[in-house]
Amino acid sequence: MTNAKDNSMILVTGGLGFIGSHTVVALLEKGHQVLIVDDLSNSSVGVLDGIETASGIRPTFIKLNLQNGAAVAEMFQQHRITGIIHFAAYKAVGESVQKPVAYYQNNLGSMLNLLAEVEKAASPIPFIFSSSCTVYGEATKLPITENSPVQPAMSPYGNTKQIGEEILVDTVNAIEGFRVISLRYFNPIGAHPSIAIGELPLGKPQNLVPFITQTAAGLYPKLTVFGNDYPTSDGTNVRDYIHVVDLAEAHVVALERILESKSTEAYEVFNLGTGKGSSVLEVIQSFERVSGQKLTYEIGERRKGDVIAAYADTTKANTVLGWKTKRSLDEAVASAWKWEQKVRNL
Ligand code: WQD
Repeated sequence: MTNAKDNSMILVTGGLGFIGSHTVVALLEKGHQVLIVDDLSNSSVGVLDGIETASGIRPTFIKLNLQNGAAVAEMFQQHRITGIIHFAAYKAVGESVQKPVAYYQNNLGSMLNLLAEVEKAASPIPFIFSSSCTVYGEATKLPITENSPVQPAMSPYGNTKQIGEEILVDTVNAIEGFRVISLRYFNPIGAHPSIAIGELPLGKPQNLVPFITQTAAGLYPKLTVFGNDYPTSDGTNVRDYIHVVDLAEAHVVALERILESKSTEAYEVFNLGTGKGSSVLEVIQSFERVSGQKLTYEIGERRKGDVIAAYADTTKANTVLGWKTKRSLDEAVASAWKWEQKVRNL
């Protein structure tokens, strides 16, 4: 079953990815018709089944590499696209240091091909960009507001987010009526309550929560905490862990803000976080609380490139966007564990 409003479709690039798939479910639940494009380089077509289970609707999917400008143009010819939520990008910080050319080519080339179609469109197409708190680097003042200075990127990945935002600022200034919202996420974790979708465990996890759940599932003998000699409450790094469903819902609010002509500026930026910082040890304690099992971990060396602490000032998203998180750290960690248990048939 698909839900048609007026055959207009919201294009979700990278819509089979972790945040993309959760955003597709949130869009479908709000009655939007969705077109997913994904090159399956870091996702799997099976996620479509999960989206259908979670929402009761199977969206249209096209396997497509957005670096192929002709294929992107063809897609815009074939479909009436009235909004774009752009997730598709390579996103591994460490890998980006090894493969900078691939990261700049893919992350920036894909966006430029989409914007070339926006330029050609009869009327401007609302554009939501998946950006990141990475742009702030080691913020000197906490919590981090949207006016906190953007610092020199610590990786090619982070630089593609910064350059992506700059491209969008230049583009909104050149296309009459074009409206863009960049969403700077903090640390997305968890899974949809249906556990039909979650963070696909492709390869060794880089991020904390998947590493916790995979260690608890027995895939690794222990978790290494990357340093406990930081100037924080318990010596471990502090981050703002946001439930992926809260994050997904924010994308729909942002898109509808533009569709309903509520934007106050052509280019708007919002930090998406809970506004609360949690240390690595506090996340481990959350896991032990919600799972009822101890986690095996050791304290290791600091990880290169880690910032000491980063958590959001959510005032702007709460007051201007009219969105705030509804789910707690424990709920997010519990959903991540439920997803891991399902994936591993535990
Ligand atoms: C969180 C904390 C680690 C693993 C990443 C991306 C960033 C953004 C958000 C996209 C850190 C510690 C981790 C482990 C550990 N994504 N840790 N042991 O680095 O804050 O941000 O996700 O935009 O670009 O880099 O998230 O989950 O990797 O680390 O101690 O095995 O957990 O040191 O303090 P990070 P993370």
